[in-house]
Amino acid sequence: MNKDWNLPNLKMAQKRSIDETLIERSLFEIPEQYINIGQDKTYYLRTYGCQANERDSETIKGIFEKMSFTQCDEMNEADVIIFNTCAIRENAENKVFGEIGNVKVIKQTRPDVVLMVGGCMTQEENVVNRLLKTYHQVDVIFGTHNIHRLPQLLIQAYFNKERVVEVFSKEGEVYENLPVSRNNKSKAWVNIMYGCDKFCTYCIVPYTRGKERSRLKEDILSEVDDLVNQGFKEVTLLGQNVNAYGKDLNLDFDFADLLESVALKDIPRVRFMTSHPWDFTDKLIGVIAKMPNVMPFIHLPLQSGNNEILKIMGRRYTKEDYLTIFDKLRSQVPNIALSTDIIVGFPNESEAQFQETLELIDHCQFDNVYSFIYSAREKTPAASMVDNVSLSEKNDRLQRLNKRIGVHALMHNQAMVGKTVSVLVDGPSKKNSDVYSGYTETNKLVNFKPTTDCIGEIVLVEIISAKTWTLQGKQV
Ligand code: SAH
Ligand code: SF4
Ligand code: F3S
Repeated sequence: MNKDWNLPNLKMAQKRSIDETLIERSLFEIPEQYINIGQDKTYYLRTYGCQANERDSETIKGIFEKMSFTQCDEMNEADVIIFNTCAIRENAENKVFGEIGNVKVIKQTRPDVVLMVGGCMTQEENVVNRLLKTYHQVDVIFGTHNIHRLPQLLIQAYFNKERVVEVFSKEGEVYENLPVSRNNKSKAWVNIMYGCDKFCTYCIVPYTRGKERSRLKEDILSEVDDLVNQGFKEVTLLGQNVNAYGKDLNLDFDFADLLESVALKDIPRVRFMTSHPWDFTDKLIGVIAKMPNVMPFIHLPLQSGNNEILKIMGRRYTKEDYLTIFDKLRSQVPNIALSTDIIVGFPNESEAQFQETLELIDHCQFDNVYSFIYSAREKTPAASMVDNVSLSEKNDRLQRLNKRIGVHALMHNQAMVGKTVSVLVDGPSKKNSDVYSGYTETNKLVNFKPTTDCIGEIVLVEIISAKTWTLQGKQV
């Protein structure tokens, strides 16, 4: 072990102090002599996981562009390869290990290629130990709190030809003024807070992302102003728990206030992700109902329909609490679409408890459900619980759940046939470049034949047919 390394420490990552959030706003700078280090060189960036990682990758892109690197879509041709990883479930991690394996082959013919691995996985002790022990092709290991240090870490690996490991497990600060290069020209992610303090017993995120810390409203609103000036059509306010916004700042300004302030800007579409049922206030429902540009689509993770399981998960609400919010949203926000997350096969979940989840799913008839099999995460409380549910039983529950989810999704999509809806156009669809795709206000994917050059615009589309996960339409 190199004494200069900073290795992850999950125990430290679990600590929470009452210290105020430190806002770091010194201007980000690349040392003068390295500003051209990427001249004639390319980087390949692959992102796994959630929107927090997507947004972090836009910062990584911004940093590499500041060092004069050009982005490249082919991993085989790049000079620097960066993986921004996700630790949420074991299968997410396995994919990354497989991809890191592929880089070994690349480095056999091009040994100068630099491989950098960062994100949530590298905040885990067992992952870093495994990388250090068996994956010698990895040159730089960096954590979620170390992104602003990428130039220094890259340079160290480049010139000293040595492995570099820098993973801070502190609670984290808020870094303003980091460069950003956005992936989409009409839709933007805007971080409003980082980290998570909820510590649901199955979840690794509070350890990999640190303490809940909010950005100042001035910084958020000025970012939104910039986006408006650049012609963006949609902003999504990001946080693991947006309803906890502002609590660490001890100000009399909560998420409902922030959402309203953002919606008062000249931006056609405002979304937010993710809200926890805990802290979902009537005031927030009021703002969603009142502001026409707050999109009528809410992702509200449920996880389980059984109160005992919810309690062991540490979710701090009952299914009755959940339904109260759900019913208010349905009744107060016209045409609202709702989606959720469900974990099946939590340790010792019984068939009867699972049935309660199915019943709630049938009752709520969500527009979309993200369903997962429980995956034990290192050092989380649930990982040490006894689990008598076999993997084949868990798989079977997932199949049964997914069947219901599909029925409800199709039902909602079929109800749209014949309606004319506004669609923010992303561009040519993945499968057929003659067809454009985009999203409705309720976040439904629509494919249609364009009659105008409308990429990045909001257009009206008449829905002509529906499948479970997509709508077909024609531009009007
Ligand atoms: N902060 C968000 C969730 C972020 S993680 C929230 O609480 O609403 C996204 C989803 O992954 C979670 O809602 C949960 O359903 C799932 N998930 C998290 N940890 C998991 C685990 N250990 N096994 C399986 N699914 C998990
Ligand atoms: Fe994980 Fe719970 Fe935090 Fe969501 S609220 S990130 S599920 S600990
Ligand atoms: Fe994955 Fe980290 Fe997001 S674990 S889901 S990338 S916060």
